[in-house]
Amino acid sequence: MTTFWSWYVTILSLGTIFALTWLIFGTRKGQRQETTDQTVGHEFDGIEEFDNPLPKWWFLLFVATIVFALGYLALYPGLGNWKGLLPGYQYLDNEAKTPFAANVQVADGVRNGGWTGVHQWEKEMARAEEQYGPIFAKYAAMPIEQVAQDEQALKMGGRLFASNCSVCHGSDAKGAYGFPNLTDNDWLYGGEPETIKTTIMGGRQAAMPAWKDSLGEQGIKNVAAYVRSLSGLKTPEGIDADIAAGQDIFKTNCAVCHGADAQGQHSFGAPNLTDKTWLYGSSFAQVQQTLRYGRNGRMPAQQDFLGNDKVHLLAAYVYSLSHQTQEK
Ligand code: HEC
Ligand code: HEC
Repeated sequence: MTTFWSWYVTILSLGTIFALTWLIFGTRKGQRQETTDQTVGHEFDGIEEFDNPLPKWWFLLFVATIVFALGYLALYPGLGNWKGLLPGYQYLDNEAKTPFAANVQVADGVRNGGWTGVHQWEKEMARAEEQYGPIFAKYAAMPIEQVAQDEQALKMGGRLFASNCSVCHGSDAKGAYGFPNLTDNDWLYGGEPETIKTTIMGGRQAAMPAWKDSLGEQGIKNVAAYVRSLSGLKTPEGIDADIAAGQDIFKTNCAVCHGADAQGQHSFGAPNLTDKTWLYGSSFAQVQQTLRYGRNGRMPAQQDFLGNDKVHLLAAYVYSLSHQTQEK
C-alpha cells in the first residue's frame, strides 16, 4: 500500500473510533443520572421516548467495543501498513519450508514481519507434515497395487479425493458430463497403476479437433450416425445420414486417434467409441455438437499442489475403485 493510502485508511479508521468515543462521552455529560417519567417530547405513532440516561450495561458494552477495537488494531496488521505487535513471519526464514509453504504466494511486506493467517496456516501445515509425513512416505515407497490393498491408505486416499477431486469427479467418483467416471475400469488414458499416477501428477489435456469447417454439416451427420451405430444406436427418424459415407470419413479422419477399430487409444486420451460410455452424451444432437466444435477436457496437474506422496495414495485409491478386493 502506498504511504498515502496507508494514512488514509489509518486516519479514517482511528478518526471514526475517536469520534464515536467523543460522542458517547460527550452526550453522557449533560444527561441526568436518575430515571424519570418525563419524555423528550417526540412521538412516533403513539410511541414516546423517556428522557432517561443510557442503561449502564449498554454504555459499558459500547466502551468495551472501543477498547477491543483499539487492542485489535494494535495487535494485528490491517491499519494501513501497520504490521501489528504480534510476533511476525520471520521465524519461517530460519526453518526449512514445508512443501505447502512453497506453494503460498506471500507479498514481501507480509513476509518481513507481522501476524498473518498464512503464517498460522503454515505453522499448522508444518505440524501436520511432521505428524503425517512419515505415513505418506511409507506408502509412497510401496507399489501402488499394494497400497490399494491397505485399509488405512485407502481411507487417507478417500479423504484426499473428497477434498481435491470430488468437485469434478463427484463424491462417488462416478463422474458427470465432461468428467470421467473413475470407477468403471474404462480409461481414457489407461488404468495401469503407474499410468493413473502419471495422469494425476501431470494432468491431461484432451484435444478432439473441431470438424465443422472440414467436414461440413452433411459430413458431420454421416459420421455421427456411423459412430453411434458402433454402440448400437439407431439414427433418429427424419435425419438423412449415410452411415457408409460416415465410415469412410472415419477411416480417413478419425482412426488416427480413435483407432481403426474405434476402440480408442490411451496415448491420445481418445475414448472408445464402441462402448456404452459417453463422456459428452450419446444423443444425436450431442454427438454432432462434439464433432462440430471438438472437445478439450482438461485434468489439472496435481504435482506441484499435492506432491508425489499424496498423489501416490490417490492413485492407489483411484485404482482400488475399479479393482475391489475380494472381501468387499
Ligand atoms: C477441475 C476438474 C477436475 C479436478 C479437480 C480433477 N479432475 Fe481428474 N479429470 C478431469 C477431467 C475433465 C478429466 C478428463 C480429461 C479428458 O477429457 O481427457 C479428468 C481425468 C482424470 C483421470 C483419467 C481418467 C481416465 O479415464 O483415464 C483420472 C485418473 C483423474 N482425472 C483423477 C483425478 C484425481 C485423483 C483428482 C484429484 C486429485 C482429479 N482427477 C481432480 C477433471 C478434474
Ligand atoms: C487428434 C486426435 C483425434 C481425432 C483426429 C479425432 N478425435 Fe474424437 N476425440 C479425441 C479425444 C482426445 C477425445 C476426448 C475429448 C475429451 O476428453 O475432452 C475425443 C472424443 C470424441 C467423442 C466423444 C466421445 C464421448 O464419450 O463423448 C466422439 C464422438 C469423437 N471423439 C468422435 C470422433 C470422430 C467421428 C472423429 C473424426 C471425424 C474424431 N473423433 C477425430 C481425439 C481425436
